[in-house]
Amino acid sequence: MLSKKLQKALNDQMQAEMSSAYIYFSMSSWFKAQNLNGFASWMSLQAQEEMDHVMKIYGYIHDRGGEVELRALPAPQKSWKSPLAVFQDTYKHEQKITGRINDLCALADSDNDNATRVLLNWFVTEQVEEEANVLGVVETLKMIEGHPGGIYMLDKEMAGRSASPEVA
Ligand SMILES: [Fe+2]
Ligand SMILES: [Fe+2]
Repeated sequence: MLSKKLQKALNDQMQAEMSSAYIYFSMSSWFKAQNLNGFASWMSLQAQEEMDHVMKIYGYIHDRGGEVELRALPAPQKSWKSPLAVFQDTYKHEQKITGRINDLCALADSDNDNATRVLLNWFVTEQVEEEANVLGVVETLKMIEGHPGGIYMLDKEMAGRSASPEVA
């Protein structure tokens, strides 16, 4: 049985993952409006991955006999000043999520809840990958800043991202 404290924290995390999906859909929509369809498709896959994270926690809370509580989501920002600004925000957001996962690990450990810790270990690994992917894009965007041709080419490359096996 999940402790009440951990159950609440997992529901909070479910909301944070849902909120990530919401933010990434908003970013995807902004890219679409800029005619950057490769970036838009990348971001929409990113949003779908976040939904996958939501479902992982959702399934886990049920498996442990806990209660899923769906919360209201804040409306995400609608526009950005550049593709670089979008990815810088994404990087900051992912770092915030990593911090939350670390706090959750500490809580699971203090509860001596090993099953939750095993679930969270997956998220720890996932966050390393997420931060690295996003930082890679930030660095590339910095390199080509002010060169529309570079953005055009990167957009074509971003279109090549395929859904992760778990999402597909
Ligand atoms: Fe996530
Ligand atoms: Fe994420």
